[in-house]
Amino acid sequence: MAKQFEQSTLGVRAGTARSEFNEHSEALFLTSSFVFDNAAQAAARFTGGAQGFVYSRFSNPTVSMFQDRLAALEGAEACVATASGMSAILATSMALLKAGEHVVCSNAVFGATVTLYSTILSRFGVETTFVSPTKVEEWQRAVRPTTKLFFLETPSNPLGEISDIAAIAAVAKKAGAALAVDNVLCTPALQRPLEFGADLVIHSATKHLDGQGRVLGGAVLGAKGPVMDGVFGFLRTAGPSLSPFNAWVILKGMETLELRMLAQSERALDLARWLEAHPKVARVHYPGLASHPQHALAMRQQRAGGAIVSFEVKGGREAAWKVIDSTRMISITGNLGDVKTTITHPATTTHGRISAEARAAAGITEGLVRVAVGLEAVVDLQADLERGLA
Ligand SMILES: Cc1ncc(COP(=O)(O)O)c(C=O)c1O
Repeated sequence: MAKQFEQSTLGVRAGTARSEFNEHSEALFLTSSFVFDNAAQAAARFTGGAQGFVYSRFSNPTVSMFQDRLAALEGAEACVATASGMSAILATSMALLKAGEHVVCSNAVFGATVTLYSTILSRFGVETTFVSPTKVEEWQRAVRPTTKLFFLETPSNPLGEISDIAAIAAVAKKAGAALAVDNVLCTPALQRPLEFGADLVIHSATKHLDGQGRVLGGAVLGAKGPVMDGVFGFLRTAGPSLSPFNAWVILKGMETLELRMLAQSERALDLARWLEAHPKVARVHYPGLASHPQHALAMRQQRAGGAIVSFEVKGGREAAWKVIDSTRMISITGNLGDVKTTITHPATTTHGRISAEARAAAGITEGLVRVAVGLEAVVDLQADLERGLA
């Protein structure tokens, strides 16, 4: 669907392709392979000489609808769906990098992304330098003649640090490297990194795109060349593909994406303001707050602050665990991007495997609590948190 439509329209309409039965709701094509009229047609489809579906590792109508809808929302030329967010990052790296090449990566990315670059891709001769998400000069300093990929996540999780996408994209461009932005926390409903000069957008569709914590999925978006020749080529061969069932679930989730993102951001801002005024809370990290050090940049890049609010409870780990354990409604679980609010203690869960010094350097204190705000009423969230703060 062309760009003249607004995000809300694209969210419910883009990518829809009706079958011969003219169904109104998008169909789920649960099939591994597709039948050909004859051998010549099979041969033409296999070589790519003729359009048409072949085999669901790399072509399926429900997955195509998911890809086309997300591409329309991100304003991207091409989208390739993957089995999870991590396989989207892996597929991007395998497509863009070879032994001897170098990556510059924000040090405030998802933990498994750090492990992928520092311990897995390093075994294949790809070196990574980790730099501050907010200090553009560190990105510039880290550049080598072999640098091929810049990778960042903005806002970061759990501290909501904001990377200046346009400024880092300019450094990447000068260095001849591609900039990939993990847009999981904002989704295209709040932020469209390609408009700020990013080359690729990465998604864990497991989070807000589904929105209801049901299935895993991922995607890579950008210009046709790197996405279709590079990422699609890797996916077709190596097979970390999105299942049609998951694509269908996420496709239907995306119909309410914009509404959810705006409503969850509104609740998150209310909750962040309440926490900021709470005597037992030392500090609140939320880009939508005027007190956030990069509030102005966040508001230039994002339509709203997003759903992740982190706060430091006075009294360290004991006080933080008391807040978590005193909740009766909020779910104690590591996932985010769900309409049900979740709560975690980053220092002992998502960041538990890194050293205490690295944690401290990253600002993940023992008193830090992360809340991924859902759609419940803010007064009910406050009551659930107040029990442990009181
Ligand atoms: C920002 C971010 N990127 C990537 C991922 C990985 O996604 P998945 O769990 O779908 O592999 C996550 C998962 O939590 C995430 O939060």
